[in-house]
Amino acid sequence: MLTVRDLHVEVAGREILKGIDIEIREGETCILFGPNGGGKTSLLLALMGFSNYQVTKGEIVFKGEVINDLPINERAKRGIGISMQRPPVVRGVKTRQMVEIASDGQADAKELAHQLDLIEFLDRDINLGFSGGEIKRSELLQLLAQSPDLVLLDEPESGVDLENIALVGKVINKLLEKYLHRKRKKAGLIITHTGHILDYLEADKGYVLFDGQIGCQGNPREILEDIRRRGYEACTICRR
Ligand SMILES: Nc1ncnc2c1ncn2[C@@H]1O[C@H](COP(=O)(O)OP(=O)(O)O)[C@@H](O)[C@H]1O
Ligand SMILES: [Mg+2]
Repeated sequence: MLTVRDLHVEVAGREILKGIDIEIREGETCILFGPNGGGKTSLLLALMGFSNYQVTKGEIVFKGEVINDLPINERAKRGIGISMQRPPVVRGVKTRQMVEIASDGQADAKELAHQLDLIEFLDRDINLGFSGGEIKRSELLQLLAQSPDLVLLDEPESGVDLENIALVGKVINKLLEKYLHRKRKKAGLIITHTGHILDYLEADKGYVLFDGQIGCQGNPREILEDIRRRGYEACTICRR
């Protein structure tokens, strides 16, 4: 589904990502760990095609096609979707309109909003005055409508209260078609700083992104255990 090869990304004239290699197969869910400022968000934004995240070297291959030069909308059309860490407020556009646009008019906005307990938000401007947790749920609502093949989630659990975290987990499982077992096709790349989302999700692979490079990869639960015990400082030792 996605192959990232030796990806170098520059933001505002500074190299943030320094040679990233990642491989995500159909049906696979990958977790991206890493300390603040390591470049996790930059990686997701570069994969989605935000133009201030400039690829200076390497390749992003999605479903067999090099997409380095495609604009965001073309990447979305091909099946990439993102839930941002800090999405903007969109004044003058109602959440309901976004759900309709994202689904090409196919989605039942009310039914989807009901799943996320967001019915009364459909007629509000996107993210305007939403709390942290409401923003996260609203991002997932738009993704449910879009139903992308590759789901990029940037800290989906941050700011979500305990009452809603199971709900968020359930919707992510739905996005990733976790209930389909054998026929799973959707892939996910999920950033988590705390690892809480792993309590609600079956993840296949974990990566630690550290100072613009992948420090290690492997079983996501083992990686999380290690981070909990030894902190991210251990990554520096490992790198040496
Ligand atoms: N638009 C931007 N302009 C300037 N610097 C940026 C921008 N986006 C990210 N950075 C810098 O890139 C580094 C990595 O940030 P980020 O990708 O947000 O890390 P993470 O998500 O792992 O915390 C940080 O030093 C951050 O300040
Ligand atoms: Mg981030």
